[in-house]
Amino acid sequence: MDGGKKLFIKTYGCQMNVYDSERMAEALPDHDLVETPEEADLILLNTCHIREKAAEKVYSELGRFKPLKAAKPDLKIGVAGCVAQAEGEEIVRRQPLVDLVVGPQAYHRLPEMERRVRDGSRALDTDFPEEDKFERLKGRGGMRRGPTAFLTVQEGCDKFCSFCVVPYTRGAERSRPAERVVAEARGLVERGAREVTLLGQNVNAYHGHDGGLAGLIMDLARIDGLERIRYTTSHPNDMDDALIEAHGAEPKLMPYLHLPVQSGSDRILKAMNRKHTSEGYLRLIARVRAARPDIVISGDFIVGFPGETDSDFEETMSLVREVGYGHAFSFKYSARPGTPAAERGSRVPDGTASARLDRLQRLLAEQQAGAMEAMVGREVGVLFEKEGRSPGQLVGKSEHLMAVHADLPGDRIGTLAKVRITASNPNSLSAVPA
Ligand code: SAH
Ligand code: SF4
Ligand code: F3S
Repeated sequence: MDGGKKLFIKTYGCQMNVYDSERMAEALPDHDLVETPEEADLILLNTCHIREKAAEKVYSELGRFKPLKAAKPDLKIGVAGCVAQAEGEEIVRRQPLVDLVVGPQAYHRLPEMERRVRDGSRALDTDFPEEDKFERLKGRGGMRRGPTAFLTVQEGCDKFCSFCVVPYTRGAERSRPAERVVAEARGLVERGAREVTLLGQNVNAYHGHDGGLAGLIMDLARIDGLERIRYTTSHPNDMDDALIEAHGAEPKLMPYLHLPVQSGSDRILKAMNRKHTSEGYLRLIARVRAARPDIVISGDFIVGFPGETDSDFEETMSLVREVGYGHAFSFKYSARPGTPAAERGSRVPDGTASARLDRLQRLLAEQQAGAMEAMVGREVGVLFEKEGRSPGQLVGKSEHLMAVHADLPGDRIGTLAKVRITASNPNSLSAVPA
């Protein structure tokens, strides 16, 4: 070892946090990443504020670091991410354990903050600075990496759904210029990436290219060695014609679309400030399927939003039946401080919300199992990412983002292979080389 300082990062929340954690590690080049908090000189928690449970985890995790800090007074602890942005000052006030609080738009200032806390001060930075963190956070290059990578192209949200904290924690919508994104993607491919997932809170609101997200995807598709392109999360209202057409026209764009709808009831959609109807969403899905018939649709749902009646919930169930999801996330509504929905009365009793979530999740699980079952007997392309649980086995993802395992030599990691699906298991598919 080179005797450098040791950094432990724990990441919660969405893929954007995963991307940000990599950038934070790169911003601190005099630190080596370690696997456990016990080894670390600096611990960073990259946090999520989306639901109450997510935010609470941070405080219980911090409690666990108390003995570590008692044993190692030089250990510095930092909180980053969306809880830092939303509750930074309170954390500094109430948690003497925390030396550093850094919001998602200030990560490029981390090295300077780290120096300050080494000198014994505490540091808080939750600004939305003028300068662009992406331009200050240059990748270290050279670092070897796996075959799949995340690439943030858009950040922030101007939609203000009435339940959601993201517009407050991530700030206003902004896009990175297409040339920068393409350059970063080239670098990723040079370091071994074969698949890139473009990230944004509303990634299809991307406006860093004249042709929008579709234009960016077409430019990226020209990079040799980049085999697969995905994007997430998209909003129904930003799903433009060009992007829908791209699903039919660009073979490198994978046949998978995560398109959250939240509810099937127009009354609830209106109260959520989603600015689309269930009918509009269904029409959109039909158009996407016309462009790419085998596309797998994924979604997000919230049950128990204030005022949601049994019949509103039944409308969600029938929308789900109509769409037929290959994958989905569903949540019980969580009232978030500062959001308009949290001020509303007519809370749904927790037992009712739980019962609805249970029914919805059973339906979604059935649909997912059906979508996976339908793959049995088919030949599919899989990008193998790593070794599986049993010896000689590799696991990867199909074009439709389903986990697939097959017996293949280890040197196939990082390569695309055609396999034939032989069986469908609860969370993965079994395959043999085709
Ligand atoms: N930008 C994305 C989603 C970001 S948050 C979009 O517009 O779809 C991811 C998911 O968390 C949301 O789609 C929603 O289903 C869920 N979510 C957000 N706020 C929530 C809350 N207050 N309670 C429960 N679920 C919530
Ligand atoms: Fe949140 Fe709505 Fe923005 Fe998605 S579109 S991040 S749910 S406010
Ligand atoms: Fe959570 Fe922030 Fe992502 S609240 S879901 S980490 S944008």
